Amino acid sequence: MSTASMQAWQFDSHGHYSDVLHWTTRPLPTPGPGEALVRTSAVSLNFPDLLIIQGKYQHKAPLPAVPGVEAVGVVEAVGPGSKFKIGDRAVGFCHSGGTLADAFLVHNQSAWTVPAHVTDGQAAALSVTYGTSWFGLTHRAHLQAGETLLVLGAAGGVGLAAIQLGKLLGATVIACAGDAKKLAVCRDNGADHLIDYRSEDLVERVKALTNGHGADVIYDPVGGDIFDQAKRCVAWDGRIVIIGFAAGRIPTIETNRILLKNMAVIGLAWGQYLDRGSKLPEQAQFEFYEMIARRQIDPVIYRTLPFADVHEGLRIIESREVYGKVVITR
Ligand SMILES: NC(=O)c1ccc[n+]([C@@H]2O[C@H](COP(=O)([O-])OP(=O)(O)OC[C@H]3O[C@@H](n4cnc5c(N)ncnc54)[C@H](OP(=O)(O)O)[C@@H]3O)[C@@H](O)[C@H]2O)c1
Repeated sequence: MSTASMQAWQFDSHGHYSDVLHWTTRPLPTPGPGEALVRTSAVSLNFPDLLIIQGKYQHKAPLPAVPGVEAVGVVEAVGPGSKFKIGDRAVGFCHSGGTLADAFLVHNQSAWTVPAHVTDGQAAALSVTYGTSWFGLTHRAHLQAGETLLVLGAAGGVGLAAIQLGKLLGATVIACAGDAKKLAVCRDNGADHLIDYRSEDLVERVKALTNGHGADVIYDPVGGDIFDQAKRCVAWDGRIVIIGFAAGRIPTIETNRILLKNMAVIGLAWGQYLDRGSKLPEQAQFEFYEMIARRQIDPVIYRTLPFADVHEGLRIIESREVYGKVVITR
């Protein structure tokens, strides 16, 4: 560790961000083998940041810790064997947090250069949401052109990415969200059909929209009650991709239902592709850059806030006010 210091958002114990997250001075990290130190330009907040600060996420950094799992900036120091050089613009994913600071460390395996046509906001908001939805829809669910894709939590970060990518893959997309404003955002991002699950019967609407066939693929980042409904409108030979449990309850499914519908219930943990050394995320990242250049995808940014307003950014996510992403700029 060098003696140089930096400013960062830090929590010394686990708890609610309003109680434990504070702005402080801490040592500037030194890049080790395969690492680079990146001077922060923009960070995107993710739902897991709330969990990381509370100590409820599967990856835990030693305390005191800095939250923030993805960010973009400029490389200012490199460790031995780093694939970056000083001055590169780089975006990185840090599974245990660390990006809500003046500078953060990235590793070769989970960081990539950023081309000039991709803005800081786009770069910061791209990897987790599009990575998750891309692997969920392609590698896991094998979504085919002409199939029907039902996206739950469709106005959230991963949900909007799933709508855009689902359309790109040739699916008919049904977006499901909790209010008219969020559904309008889903429509603007390509959804063919909209369901407000607070006022409409999800199963009846999906059956009606698909002439009784059901959804071929259900993309579920929400879990809880909405999963309990969605599992009753899967098509024969359909697939449910389990992405997360934003609703807070981990639901269950009867194995006879799986058998009778000839269906698959599939898990997707995007970060594990990186942790396990797969080359696929890097390929996907560069495909996303091409998709942005061709205007096929564009991360939806709900709010861009200065570093001083991190608490407000987390509140926006926690309160469910957000659609798309919250980006914090340094
Ligand atoms: N498996 C993976 O690799 C992976 C990667 C990234 C994220 N995730 C997970 O995916 C989930 C969604 O992430 P995200 O970044 O899209 O989050 P987000 O932007 O906050 O969106 C979550 C959506 O879930 C719905 N929701 C329903 N009940 C909720 C509740 N009690 N609190 C908050 N939202 C609720 C909300 O839609 P309505 O208001 O319309 O209901 C909201 O738009 C999280 O659980 C996250 O941990 C998993």
